[in-house]
Amino acid sequence: MDKAKIREIISRMTLEEKSSLCSGKDFWTTKEIARLGIPSIMMTDGPHGLRKQSAAADHVGLNASVPATCFPSGVGLAASWDRELIERMGRSAGAEAKAEQVSVLLGPAVNIKRSPLCGRNFEYLSEDPFLAGEMAKHHIKGVQSQGVGASIKHFAANNQEKSRMLTDVVVDERTLREIYLPAFETAVKESQPWTVMCAYNKLNGLYCSQNRWLLTEVLKEEWGHEGIVVTDWGACDDRVEGLRAGQELEMPGNGGINDKAIVEAVRSGALDEAILDSALERLLNVTFMAAENLSPAARFDADLHHAEARRIAGECMVLLKNDGILPLAGSGKIALIGAFARSPRYQGGGSSHIAPTCVDDAVEEIGKKFGGAAILTYAPGYDPRMPEPDAALIEEAKRVAGEADVAVLFIGLIDRYESEGFDRQHIRLPESHTALLAAVREAQKNIVVVLSNGSPVEMPWLGDARAVLESYLGGQAWGGAVADILSGDVNPSGKLAETFPLRLEDNPSYLDFPGQGRRVHYREGIFVGYRHYDALAIEPLFPFGFGLSYTSFEYSGLETDRDSISDADTLKVSLRVRNTGSVPGKEVVQLYLGHPGSSIARPVKELKAFEKVFLQSGEEKTVVFTLSGRAFAFWDSDLRGWRVETGKIDIMAGASSRDIRLTKRISIASSKESARDFDLNSSVAELAAHPVGAQFAAGIRGALFASFGHSDPDSVEALMIGAMVDEMPLRNIVRMSGGRFSPEKMDELIGLLNRKEG
Ligand code: BGC
Repeated sequence: MDKAKIREIISRMTLEEKSSLCSGKDFWTTKEIARLGIPSIMMTDGPHGLRKQSAAADHVGLNASVPATCFPSGVGLAASWDRELIERMGRSAGAEAKAEQVSVLLGPAVNIKRSPLCGRNFEYLSEDPFLAGEMAKHHIKGVQSQGVGASIKHFAANNQEKSRMLTDVVVDERTLREIYLPAFETAVKESQPWTVMCAYNKLNGLYCSQNRWLLTEVLKEEWGHEGIVVTDWGACDDRVEGLRAGQELEMPGNGGINDKAIVEAVRSGALDEAILDSALERLLNVTFMAAENLSPAARFDADLHHAEARRIAGECMVLLKNDGILPLAGSGKIALIGAFARSPRYQGGGSSHIAPTCVDDAVEEIGKKFGGAAILTYAPGYDPRMPEPDAALIEEAKRVAGEADVAVLFIGLIDRYESEGFDRQHIRLPESHTALLAAVREAQKNIVVVLSNGSPVEMPWLGDARAVLESYLGGQAWGGAVADILSGDVNPSGKLAETFPLRLEDNPSYLDFPGQGRRVHYREGIFVGYRHYDALAIEPLFPFGFGLSYTSFEYSGLETDRDSISDADTLKVSLRVRNTGSVPGKEVVQLYLGHPGSSIARPVKELKAFEKVFLQSGEEKTVVFTLSGRAFAFWDSDLRGWRVETGKIDIMAGASSRDIRLTKRISIASSKESARDFDLNSSVAELAAHPVGAQFAAGIRGALFASFGHSDPDSVEALMIGAMVDEMPLRNIVRMSGGRFSPEKMDELIGLLNRKEG
C-alpha cells in the first residue's frame, strides 16, 4: 500500500486506536482495526524453522507447536560458510511459515559469540561480524523471498543469558561498531529485514528498547532501515520512551496498560503525536505488506524439506580430526555407541525449539549405508538426559565396542548443559560421556567421535580418537547427514565459525562474563574470538575457520590489481585454489587483512572476504575478491566515523585463521588523516603528523632543542629531550617560548589546522 494511503488511514484514527496498534493483541499477533481495514498479522519463532503454537503460547518453547522442518541451528549454518545454502534454508523455512499463515519468522539470531559460555550460542552464528553479517543477510533474503518477513535479533549486544532482561552492557563505541553491530548493519543495508527485534538488555545505561541512539540514529538514520523495531518478548520497559526512541511494536500484548500510557502521554503533551504517527506509518506499511503476501492456499512438501534439511546438515558439519579412518571402509563390524545415535540431540532448548516433521535415527541411517557389507551393533552407553555415568551401560558399551573393528561414539552436550535462559558453567562434556569414551578406549583403539553440541567443548580426550566430526545440533535430518559423511557420500566442508579454546580460561571474556550485579563490562574491547587468540599468541584447540576435508587443496597465485591504493579505491584480489586429492570437495577460501605498523591497536588479522568453492579432483579455479573502503577501515572514536590509516595492508589468504597459505603486502593512502581536532592539548608529535603542522613542529622542535643547550643530536640526552618535546602539549609551547609563540599566534595555527576542506 502506498504511503499516501497509509497516511490517510492514520488521519482517520482516534488516539486510542493509534496507541492500540503499538503493542500485540496476544502472544503472537498484532491488533486489527476492522473499521479501517487494518488486519492482524502473526509473528512466530524462528530462526531455523517454524515454531507456531496453535494453543497455549510461551516464549521459551515449552508448549506444543505445529510440525515443521527443523533445520540445523545457527552455529551449524554459519559453519557451512555457504551463502546460497543458508538462503535456501531461509526460503524453505519461509515457505513453511507461509503455509501456516505466519507473516514474520523471528530470526536470524546474529549476536556475536563473546563467550563460549553463552547458553544461546547454538542459535547464534559466529564470533566474527563479517561472517555473521553475510550469513544473516542471506538467511533474510531467503525468508523474505517467500513474502514472509524476517526479524533480525537481538539488537544489540545480547551476548549472555544471565540477567538478560536486566543487565547493562557497558561497551565502547569502537567495539560496538567493529564487533557487535556490523552483522546487523550488513543485513539491514543489504537485505532490509521487515523487522528488527531489539534486545532485552541495556546498552550503555539504556534498555535497547528505548535507546534512541541505537534504534533511530544508527538503525534508521544511518543504516536506512525501512521496517519496524519489535521488542523481544517482554523487553519493553517504558512504552512512551520506547516510541520516542524508535521502537514501533511492543510484543506480546500488555493488557492495555501501555496503550493507556501512550494516550495519556499524548494528551498531556509529553509525547508529540507526530512521533506516534510516524511509528504507525512504518507499522502499517509492514502490516499491509504482510497481509498482501498471505496465501491461504500455500503448502509445503515435508518430505522434500526433510531431504533438503539432510543436504544442509551435511554442509554444516566440521571434520576436526581424521588420521585417515574416515570415510569408514564400510566392511567388518561397526559399533555405534551412545544414546544420541538413537535419540539425537539435534536442536537446542528455548524459543527456537521446533516440533519436527520427523527425526532421523543415526543407527538406521548408517545401517542403510553399510547394512549390506558391514555388521552394525549398538549400545546406548549413557542416559541422554543425565550427566552422571551409568556403570552398567558403560560396561555393555565397552563390550560391544571391543567386539567390533571400529567404534563410532556419539557424544556431546545434553539439554541441561546449554539452552536459552541460562549460560553454561564450563566447557566440559558431561562425565557420562567422557567416562564412556575412556572405557571404550580400553577395549577399542579405532574410535571415531561424532559430537552433538551447540558450542565449543574442551577435548582432553582428543588423543583417544582417530577422527572427530563436529556435527553440531544438526536438525531433524542429522542422522542421515552423519551417515552421508561417515560413508564418504558427502565430503565434509564445514569450517568453524568460532574458536575452540584449549581451556575456558583462555577466552577473552573470561574475567568479565557474565558481569557483576546488573552490569557487564566488555573490557576485552574489539579483541573477541580469534582477534584475541592471535593478539596474545594463544594456541587454540581448533582455530576459527578450521575444518578438514577428505581431499586436500593447494593455494597459489595471490595477486592484487594494484600495489598501492587510496581509501576511495576498490581492490581486486585473486588467487587460485586446486583440489589436489582424489575426491571432489569444497574449500572455504578465507581472506584476512592485517595492518602492520598501525598506530591504533588493531587485530593481527580480520576476515574480510570468503568464498566456498566446489572442485572436482584435480580441478583448479580462480577466486576473485573485491574489497573497498570499509574493509580497510577502523572506527575512529575521536572522529566518530570510519577511517583508513595511511600505511601497509597485509593480505592473507588461507584455509583457516591459523593456516595462512599466501600473503601480499600493499600500501594504502588515507584522505582523512587527522582524526581529532587540534586544540591547546594537542601534542607536538600530533602537529608533526599533520601536513601543514609539520613545518611548525620542525621549528618548535629545533627551538626547544637548542634551548636545552645540547649540540650532539646522537646523544642519549638528545633522545630524551626529543621524546619530551614530542609529547609536549601546545599550551606549553606558548608558555615556554618566551613570547615567540603568542597565544594569538597559537590560536591562529590551531584554526588553520582545523580548517576542513571543501
Ligand atoms: C527470545 C526471542 C524469541 C521470543 C519469542 C524470547 O524469549 O529471546 O528470540 O523470538 O522470545 O519467542
